[in-house]
Amino acid sequence: MATERLNRYISLAAGVSRRVADEMVRNGRVTVGGVPVLDPGALWDPANEEVRLDGRTLVPVREEKVYIMLYKPDNVVTTMKDREGRKTAPALIGEMSSRVFPVGRLDFHTTGLLLLTNDGEFAYRLTHPRFGVEKTYIAKLMSVPRPQELAVLRKGLPVDGKMTNPAQVQFLDKKSGKAWVMIRIAEGRHHQVRKMFDAIGHRVTKLRRTAIGPLELSGVEPGEWRYLTPKEVRDLSDYMDRRSEEVAGQGPPPEVPRHPRRTETPADRAKRRTVKDAIAQAARKKAVVGERAAREARDTERKKPRQPKPAWKKGPRIPEKYGKR
Ligand code: URA
Repeated sequence: MATERLNRYISLAAGVSRRVADEMVRNGRVTVGGVPVLDPGALWDPANEEVRLDGRTLVPVREEKVYIMLYKPDNVVTTMKDREGRKTAPALIGEMSSRVFPVGRLDFHTTGLLLLTNDGEFAYRLTHPRFGVEKTYIAKLMSVPRPQELAVLRKGLPVDGKMTNPAQVQFLDKKSGKAWVMIRIAEGRHHQVRKMFDAIGHRVTKLRRTAIGPLELSGVEPGEWRYLTPKEVRDLSDYMDRRSEEVAGQGPPPEVPRHPRRTETPADRAKRRTVKDAIAQAARKKAVVGERAAREARDTERKKPRQPKPAWKKGPRIPEKYGKR
């Protein structure tokens, strides 16, 4: 079965850049299974076909595994390339960018911990729901949520027609009508955190990922990157093993019932009403007072002297051992 791109293989086996490998193929210097191939992106089967460069067999090399922590800044896409020409996360790591790919994705405006690697198996285990890897975020909200509303996130709520799994949620702080909330989830649906807060009537204005499993964003500032230490890679791997066992014992999340009135018990009904009431009340409150409160809060904020930031709001500390890149 064809599984590998020719240019990538040549770049590794001949120790040249991907661009030079492309040129070698286009110039007709490469054969696969004895047949000249002119398409650098062609797929081939390493198990059954021999690749030759200028008639000499290219011996496969084992690629060294690379694990990178990037502090993704705002206004950066997580894809390898962007049709609109926006800055990409791989571009932030320069030379290394042709060797690694981002693990999962963060929204254009989400900042924080993004991993990049060339280890496909590792990336798969980090992103597949079966391994239940928890990601921790700090969300800044336009308004201050009530405890009942946060309780809804902890229980799980319908988002895009499917129940979310219970989340770990911790209220961190509030100031001038805004709030900061820590949320930890083991799912990775599109815009999930923003949608979860929207569903309880609170808009996320800033979102930062601070941890993936036990791995915390540390030693880097926005836009900077560093290699993971061998211990960090090992800890993450052990954590994934543990989590996959835990998740296997939990079973799938419940589906959102299509006809809740026909199937639900009185206890379910009471629970559903609490959730519905909390959402409706939050939405009403937001519509009536949200804008006014936000305006007042902005005015007050401008008049007051700046308070020192709590440690969790300042972003990661940079331990000296990492030094500067
Ligand atoms: N949830 C979101 O809404 N956005 C992200 O980037 C990550 C999680």
